[in-house]
Amino acid sequence: MVKILAIYGSPRRKGNTSLLLKNAVKGAIEAGAEVEELVLRDLKMSPCLEIYGCKETGRCVIQDDFQKVYDQLLSCHGLMLASPIFYYTVSAHTKILMDRCQSLWAKKYWLEKPLEKRKATRKGLFISVGATKGKRLFEGTLLSIRYFFDVLDTELWRSLLYRSLDLERDILGHPEYLLEAHRSGKELVQAIKKID
Ligand SMILES: Cc1cc2nc3c(=O)[nH]c(=O)nc-3n(C[C@H](O)[C@H](O)[C@H](O)COP(=O)(O)O)c2cc1C
Repeated sequence: MVKILAIYGSPRRKGNTSLLLKNAVKGAIEAGAEVEELVLRDLKMSPCLEIYGCKETGRCVIQDDFQKVYDQLLSCHGLMLASPIFYYTVSAHTKILMDRCQSLWAKKYWLEKPLEKRKATRKGLFISVGATKGKRLFEGTLLSIRYFFDVLDTELWRSLLYRSLDLERDILGHPEYLLEAHRSGKELVQAIKKID
């Protein structure tokens, strides 16, 4: 069965990116996937302390909720990550997760150990929303996400990026965006089934 990890990176439980991701999760379940949902604001996760304890084994030595997330990241076939734009990058919750994955970077590039034996790379869906309309609103974030996904052996399969949404639930005024997220969740699972 296709396993998907859905990561909610907004501090708002029912904000714009959360509602979009909820729809993507529904789509993925309808396509037959098993979905694990992770709400970052509910986790106790320290930022990376840059002590490189991970240099020995490829595993982060800080004992907190990241330990479980590490296993979830490695065992899924597909990733769905949603974060609002905060100062032209991801939310602090999301950035903490990204930085803790430096332990995976150390595993791959310092210890030269592959993350796992898989036939194909994972596929990832990235969802983001910002309040403004600027052409370059998502530019920096997309660069970070590409590098982050790369560390996780995850191809950035699709990104859903929506502008001019600010207040909680502004997204409800755009049912077409919610439908697109739902369809993307479904299509992500179908794309993974094709390669596995
Ligand atoms: C700390 C903070 C920083 C923000 N920075 C930006 C920004 O740089 N550009 C932008 O367009 N919107 C910015 N916003 C607005 C959010 O991206 C916007 O409200 C979004 O809809 C929130 O999504 P959410 O409901 O999923 O959390 C910021 C909001 C906060 C709270």
